Amino acid sequence: MSADLGFVHVFQPAQNPGAPTLLLLHGTGGDEHDMLPLGNLAPGAALLSPRGKVLENGMPRFFRRLSEGVFDVEDLKVRANELADFVAAAAAHYRFDPSRVIAMGFSNGANIASAMMLLRPGVLKGGILLRGMVPLVPESRQDAPLAGTRVLISNGRIDPTVSPEETERLARLLQQAGADVEVHWQPAGHQLMPSDFAVAKTWLQSIR
Ligand code: MLT
Repeated sequence: MSADLGFVHVFQPAQNPGAPTLLLLHGTGGDEHDMLPLGNLAPGAALLSPRGKVLENGMPRFFRRLSEGVFDVEDLKVRANELADFVAAAAAHYRFDPSRVIAMGFSNGANIASAMMLLRPGVLKGGILLRGMVPLVPESRQDAPLAGTRVLISNGRIDPTVSPEETERLARLLQQAGADVEVHWQPAGHQLMPSDFAVAKTWLQSIR
């Protein structure tokens, strides 16, 4: 049974000493088990996979939305900070290096990951955003808060939920905050494809 650190979650320790920790963040209606198979994209890494605490018609999410693509920004801010605190608490409890946490999130999970980067720079060393959108635009207080943070965005060209313009806006927002951003376009909609996993695997090898 996993410890109670504020989120229902699964933790799998690293198989290789010194490997990073992947923070796996599911999409709407998923849970802490959904993304675990993607852990094999970073062989030997520790896996930390929480379940979103918001329920929308019984479907877990990481923050509230008012309608499809319209987010409750006040709730998002609270939840992103709560998740960042959970990552810190998990690092202390499970004894992994808090400076080597890489998020991999799908859809709603990608959106909380980028919100966490923008609101709590330094909590994540990097992130793979699969079908991510602009979560919020923070009032910036410091110059290049995300300098040294690496981000891979893998989005679909024909995604009815995330337009190409939205993807470009997300990339710009993160770049303006100082992150090193790579965008990969998939010949896909909102569903993930084998090419998403291939690009994520290559990117993870490059960051380790
Ligand atoms: C979703 O289905 O989860 C949305 O596309 C993204 C979100 O609500 O965060």
